[in-house]
Amino acid sequence: MSKVDVVLGTFFGDEGKGKIIDYLSSHADVSVRCTGGNNAGHTVEANGKKYAFHLIPSGILHKDTKAVIGNGVVVDPKVLLKEIQELKESGIHTDNLYISEKAHVIFPYHIAMDRLLEENRGSGKIGTTARGIGPAYCDKFERCGIRMEDLLSPKFEELVTRNLESKNKIFAFYGKETFDTKAIVEEYQEYAKLLAPYITDTVTLVHEALERDQKVICEGAQATLLDIDFGSYPYVTSSNPTIGGICTGSGIGAKDIGEVYGVLKAYSSRVGEGPYLTEQCNAIGDQIRELGHEYGTTTKRPRRCGWLDLVALKYAVSINGITGLAINHVDTIGKLDKIQLCVGYRHQGKVSMKFTTNESYLSECEPVYEELEGNFGDISQAKSREELPEKAKKYLARIEEVVGVPIKFIGIGPGREDMIVE
Ligand code: IMP
Repeated sequence: MSKVDVVLGTFFGDEGKGKIIDYLSSHADVSVRCTGGNNAGHTVEANGKKYAFHLIPSGILHKDTKAVIGNGVVVDPKVLLKEIQELKESGIHTDNLYISEKAHVIFPYHIAMDRLLEENRGSGKIGTTARGIGPAYCDKFERCGIRMEDLLSPKFEELVTRNLESKNKIFAFYGKETFDTKAIVEEYQEYAKLLAPYITDTVTLVHEALERDQKVICEGAQATLLDIDFGSYPYVTSSNPTIGGICTGSGIGAKDIGEVYGVLKAYSSRVGEGPYLTEQCNAIGDQIRELGHEYGTTTKRPRRCGWLDLVALKYAVSINGITGLAINHVDTIGKLDKIQLCVGYRHQGKVSMKFTTNESYLSECEPVYEELEGNFGDISQAKSREELPEKAKKYLARIEEVVGVPIKFIGIGPGREDMIVE
């Protein structure tokens, strides 16, 4: 029996992973968030309420599921405490939350550095979420990062002092405000007191769950094309939202991984800069944005929108070893009269499924589209794929045919229950 099921984004994030994760975690003993920070945002609609998650795994909504923030996550304690507070106010208890002692902490100086670096990039800016994610991961890999366990350590002040010394010099050089060590230490020691009950050795927690044959779900944040290695570098996030990040961000070994679900939308979207071949900078793109409410959960930024790109999807399947697809917004795409599906790239006159994130290659590629019928009508009541109209079935079957992976979840509306499970 497979023990760990993984949910990953296949494109540029915002595919609606939260909904699939939420469904799977209702059958799971442990739900783990492995990478990223509060640059992510899942919205889950449950019990008639909307919950926006940035750091806490959406498994928290199930009181019997342990919700784990893994060691690969970068945590802004202020944001985390706000999220805990909001959940409590909605009547959701958080005793089932566990935070890895090894997760790195985001400080205000990381956020300031994120802004400063973007400013310095000028027209080459990445379009980060300005949440301090990149600079926090930089500290982790430079081995001067501060981890959750350090917040509780007597050495905390010394660590912050050392860390700030060089950073303050950089801020001063650029004429920016510098940070006061004492004020930061005092503020974060207060956060530490509130978070202490949740901080633990989550690696052992997960291993023990696996030894007991419990079901574990790993929720990826961001997505394949935002991966620091496999995404469209440098327009990427600073972690590995692909399958490798699941292992390194949780302590789970490869042999324990079972199903790998790749989440996508029936169209595509992207936030921030970077190449995006099937983007529609026209009335269709605007229509998709409005129909799909494509505005950032975290930043409220309008998302760039376009057609579904099966060349990129196939790449995500290979990178992650995806065993099943979860497609959201089938209802949304079905509101259009005609739908275009990208089934190949034309490069120097030849059509193929070759995908690389090499910018010069991509700039020479032209998407090859197939036109399919839209106007699916109201599909919100369908209980199985069989009950969907022929036009919708055809769209789904064509996706499966091109990428060679079965669709296991079909999103037919925004709610948790608006999903056909195959
Ligand atoms: P950062 O992760 O804030 O450093 O931003 C790097 C890039 O990743 C930017 O283009 C962001 O818009 C994008 N990004 C980061 N997190 C998400 C997400 O959860 N959804 C979509 N895009 C994201």
